[in-house]
Amino acid sequence: MEIRVYRNEKEIGEAAGKIICSLVNEKPDCVLGFATGASPVPVYEYLTEQYNEGKVSFKDITTFNLDEYCELPKNHKNSYYTFMQENLFGKIDVNPEKINFLDGNADEATESKRYARAIEESGGIDIQILGIGRNGHIAFNEPGAEFTDEAWKVTLTQSTIDANSKYFDDIPMPRHAMTMGIGSIMKSKKIILIATGNAKAEAVKNMINGPVTPLCPASILQQHKDVIIMLDEAAANLL
Ligand code: F6R
Repeated sequence: MEIRVYRNEKEIGEAAGKIICSLVNEKPDCVLGFATGASPVPVYEYLTEQYNEGKVSFKDITTFNLDEYCELPKNHKNSYYTFMQENLFGKIDVNPEKINFLDGNADEATESKRYARAIEESGGIDIQILGIGRNGHIAFNEPGAEFTDEAWKVTLTQSTIDANSKYFDDIPMPRHAMTMGIGSIMKSKKIILIATGNAKAEAVKNMINGPVTPLCPASILQQHKDVIIMLDEAAANLL
């Protein structure tokens, strides 16, 4: 694990964004894995800026997102599909046919196989962006869950519901999500995990210095050969 500490979120966005842009410029048809949530937003801002300045084109990339809520239509304002449209995909020249999402309303077993096959047929994820939950989750693989390979349907924990229900002002937050499995995430060629703020410090400490255990799903990243952990000072506070 390579640990890098930055002064603020903007610097993290730029650092992660530069790695992505140089890959896209070298390999225009690369495969990128994206996360939602607050942590990667500065990265998406940097990618949008670079695109607007004509320094990079995303027209040939393929994308896979980590997760999607169940019990929510794809175009609902709180779906992760909508989040990605608003924060990145709607602002750059990505080909809509090459954007891949889990369908939170499909049959679990069929959807899980479809997503794993799609990732494999794309040649595999070159760079996967991750955030980390306050409880150590990555994607929606919550503590205690088995390390499964493929996508699966999870019941969200109270910690995740507490962290995310602020975004749901009209309907109750869904209690289930489809998530890429830990095995699929670990197959990514390179992983960049971003964590900012005090609330993540304990999870970051457990991920880096704790034992590899399903009780802290992110701890499995200790076994990945190319992972960069990008932190601000608050998230690095307990290291
Ligand atoms: C989102 C995802 C989640 C988030 C995590 C951190 O696609 O997979 O694991 O990365 O919950 O969320 P933020 O960045 O909002 O603190």
